[in-house]
Amino acid sequence: MEKQKKINRYKRLYLQIEELLKKSNDETAHMATVSAVLYHKIEYFFWCGFYRLVNGELIVGAYQGPVACQILSKNKGVCWAAVNEKKTIVVSDVQQFPGHIACDSRSKSEIVIPYFDKNKNVIAVLDIDSSELHSFDEIDAEYLEKIISLL
Ligand code: SME
Repeated sequence: MEKQKKINRYKRLYLQIEELLKKSNDETAHMATVSAVLYHKIEYFFWCGFYRLVNGELIVGAYQGPVACQILSKNKGVCWAAVNEKKTIVVSDVQQFPGHIACDSRSKSEIVIPYFDKNKNVIAVLDIDSSELHSFDEIDAEYLEKIISLL
């Protein structure tokens, strides 16, 4: 997607999600809403959802897209890298990422954004896959981090 078009799209989605999240204070409802809006409004999102850190495991939460892994092997793959490094990870080609966990072989590129609680602990990640290579860049990282900060 052309850069300015992408920025404009994210700006609109940010405002839309901000309004929608005012309708409840429920974290599960919020995560479900974020994954549904993003998945249906950005065409290159092939899978979009959350993995929650529960008793030291990453367990799938609200998501949209093909059926995914329920539990991710510990300290392996892109989601765990985002948890351990406490930062957004952009992967242009998942085959080049050591330990990448392929829940669906159609996924080609990926971005994972950590979701922090008020004490700066990671409590979940937003994971988005694309079926094309090189889908994600610094614009996706910037705006998805902003959207996650609404939770
Ligand atoms: N690829 C992820 C696993 C989750 S699926 O993409 C939905 C990873 O390597 O952590």
